[in-house]
Amino acid sequence: MRKQIAAANWKMNLTFQQAEKLLDDVLGAKIQFKGYQQAIFAVPFPYLLLTRSELEEEKNYYVAAQNCYHKKNGAFTGEVSAEMLHSIGVGHCVVGHSERREYFGETNSMLADKLDLCLENFITPIFCCGEPLAIRDTGAQNEFVETQLRESIFHLSPDSFQRIIIAYEPIWAIGTGKTATTGQAQEMHAHIRSCLSKKYGAAADEVSILYGGSVKAGNARELFSCPDVDGGLVGGASLIAADFIKIIAGLK
Ligand code: PGA
Repeated sequence: MRKQIAAANWKMNLTFQQAEKLLDDVLGAKIQFKGYQQAIFAVPFPYLLLTRSELEEEKNYYVAAQNCYHKKNGAFTGEVSAEMLHSIGVGHCVVGHSERREYFGETNSMLADKLDLCLENFITPIFCCGEPLAIRDTGAQNEFVETQLRESIFHLSPDSFQRIIIAYEPIWAIGTGKTATTGQAQEMHAHIRSCLSKKYGAAADEVSILYGGSVKAGNARELFSCPDVDGGLVGGASLIAADFIKIIAGLK
């Protein structure tokens, strides 16, 4: 069974105190995970150490950064490197979220460098891809996402490729309350897997592909039931403990 993952993306939300409470509330639910299920918290940089230490005794929970810089180190005031994340015990990092692409000008080639740096530093990247509405409206979403994969992922060796997680997040569904239908999600996930298998063969069957974009407590189970949807990357609903607990429970 491929890993089935519920990943919380807190974005730029919550105070330290609210973050502590949210973690306590989710962990307090004592969710019974199957061996191949995981929950990941992608938290703001200042909360990484807190989250890591809260999860220290937990088996199926992991902490993730929401971003890292695409250079190894140096004079880049305000940025955080993959090496720094590794040095504080962070093992996952979101790479190429559409908000980073849109507001911070991140390109496919910068994201290729971020993937390399994460992997060199033993960090599992959660690589985000997905098309804007204008592309979906013209029906060119498959080619659009394929280009994102080709330009950011396809330089990876087969060994490195097997260490990544992918998140498909149609931009028109992020934070809009408009979720892709199960048909749309499954179709794109199958397309992504087929692009990956053309390049990497059977290894593509082992890579988890998460769906993101208005995943809620009420639609998670249905989305996750699609054969090629291996869980979700969850923004808004991950900020409410009861909702995120239900989303984790919706994993197959
Ligand atoms: P959303 O965000 O669940 O609030 O739509 C998802 C994401 O951006 O990862």
